[in-house]
Amino acid sequence: MTVAVVAREELPIRSEEDLVRVRRLARALAQRGGFDAFASAALMTAASEMARNTWQHGGGGLAAIEEVRDGRRAGVRMTFADRGPGIPDLERVLRGGYSTASSLGLGMSGTRRLVDEFAIDTRPGEGTTIVVTKWTRR
Ligand SMILES: Nc1ncnc2c1ncn2[C@@H]1O[C@H](COP(=O)(O)OP(=O)(O)OP(=O)(O)O)[C@@H](O)[C@H]1O
Ligand SMILES: [Mg+2]
Repeated sequence: MTVAVVAREELPIRSEEDLVRVRRLARALAQRGGFDAFASAALMTAASEMARNTWQHGGGGLAAIEEVRDGRRAGVRMTFADRGPGIPDLERVLRGGYSTASSLGLGMSGTRRLVDEFAIDTRPGEGTTIVVTKWTRR
């Protein structure tokens, strides 16, 4: 099924306030798409965790948040891109419980489980781009 982009907004990620903006936009799109409480919370958590990683580990970057449709379903697709150090130990990160910031190391592995689609392109020394999509259940 082809995915149509209904609306797209780009937000810089350079500060704590930008993280709040990303979360707010994700919530608005979840509401507009008719997400149930569980899907909405999952999307918000994904937006929060990925934006925070872009800021903290990637040195800042850009979020592109899109309202998408694939026929019957509404969805939200979020792309987070930075030109930071990349993730050399991607397998460990995706397994979970690994952090270079003395944190829990659950942001990435948790997000992957909360969304319907999760794609990551990371190159050491060049940066990281993560695309996550969450769909309504209908
Ligand atoms: N955009 C990024 N650029 C570079 N490294 C990243 C990026 N995102 C994640 N990482 C690396 O992956 C590790 C795991 O990320 P994850 O979000 O799972 O945990 P965390 O951010 O360390 O802790 P938290 O559980 O608070 O999110 C990070 O510690 C960091 O080393
Ligand atoms: Mg994190």
